[in-house]
Amino acid sequence: MTESLHTLDRRSVWHPFTPHSVYADEHPLMVVAAEGHWLIDADGTRYLDGVASLWCNLFGHRRPEIDRAITEQLGRFAHATFLGNASAPAVTLAARLMEIAPKGLSRAFFSDNGSTAVEVAMKMAFQFWQQTGNPADAKRTRFVTIGNAYHGDTVGAVSLGGMDLFHGIYGPLLFQTIRAPSPYCYRCPLGLERSSCGIACLEQAEALIAEHADEIAAVVVEPGVQGAAGMITQPEGYLRRLRDAAMNAGALFIADEVAVGFGRSGALFACEQAGVTPDFLCLAKGLTGGYLPMAVTLTTERIFEGFLGKPEEGRTFFHGHTYTGNALAAAAAHATLDILPGVMETLPATIAHFAERAERLCALPHVGDVRRFGLALGVELVADVGTREPFLAASRMGMRVCTDCKRRNVFLRPLGDTVVVMPPLTITTEEIDILFDALEASIREIDG
Ligand SMILES: Cc1ncc(COP(=O)(O)O)c(C=O)c1O
Repeated sequence: MTESLHTLDRRSVWHPFTPHSVYADEHPLMVVAAEGHWLIDADGTRYLDGVASLWCNLFGHRRPEIDRAITEQLGRFAHATFLGNASAPAVTLAARLMEIAPKGLSRAFFSDNGSTAVEVAMKMAFQFWQQTGNPADAKRTRFVTIGNAYHGDTVGAVSLGGMDLFHGIYGPLLFQTIRAPSPYCYRCPLGLERSSCGIACLEQAEALIAEHADEIAAVVVEPGVQGAAGMITQPEGYLRRLRDAAMNAGALFIADEVAVGFGRSGALFACEQAGVTPDFLCLAKGLTGGYLPMAVTLTTERIFEGFLGKPEEGRTFFHGHTYTGNALAAAAAHATLDILPGVMETLPATIAHFAERAERLCALPHVGDVRRFGLALGVELVADVGTREPFLAASRMGMRVCTDCKRRNVFLRPLGDTVVVMPPLTITTEEIDILFDALEASIREIDG
């Protein structure tokens, strides 16, 4: 059974973010079942899901409340179009999201994934300025973005991103943004030492925003941490100062909490933690507890009203996906919001233990940097800790360590040579220990 599935996979499938020349050698899982925080392979082996199925699984697999909500919704209907039409589960979900979102957000625009959530915010911000009726506003066509940012893989989201490794080749397809340096203190883009890098990068962002004030449609940022860049954390006060700079420039502020929304930061939203209400809050991944693809872009009444007018005036937001407002996904999201408050209560203790185990990694050979934000961790592996010299790309050291973790029944996925640990929020103390024991052992294997 296992072999034939792997044969089918190799013959028929093209996997995302996967170099197929080495795919089979890196022992991919063939998941046939899952239980709680564990994935079960076709041969029956169990693996701890240390990346929460790419950062979206909040409470484990086969969570009875979510299973039940979807099944019950199936008994009513699965999907009805949301274009010029409404359906109950998504409408009530929108109202519920407003109760927990940062104050001031009042409108929900649904889509399918993180990339579309950002794409929607970007297009709304652009169109908003084109139809205020003020000729000076129409010049606000540009976006301020942060180096190393990742906002998804659609062409608009890629334009806002700054990960040349993934997206450099698409350069000619993209629109230009005003790009501020990423606060990647371990390899500071300004060449500064760690103690001064983060704030210096922030000051440079503030200066760029002030310099281009009249042409900026919006400033776009991942609050708290640049996840896909390898968990690059931000200095204290970063989000608030960036938001203030956007406000002073009269520009809009887009917060992409696709990765960190719904508890990952330790708060429901990283914006809330920072006391910031953005003009757009992009959410996806955890919205359905990791069950179904659904995203939402939350925005304010000010933005919504900018799109009002007679149909023939053409102020409508002409954007929509077939499965927008999907009823099954909305049912899963409702169940997620039911479970979340209880989990938020146990989360501080989970994060404390996770942080303590993460800290211990610093002492290991080849661990250059350990970056943590709430229950998200990046462990940057380097050939030489003293000189910060990276491993040769061909060694695929991040993947090597993760493949070794798999031998120890822990599933992790690296970003280059940064091993990412992003477990479900409900991971237990014992499971945290299993995960870090495996990771420690695999890192020690590097020279073995
Ligand atoms: C901050 C951020 N924005 C957007 C995305 C894209 O989300 P999706 O893969 O659902 O399109 C991701 C995915 O990791 C992300 O981390």
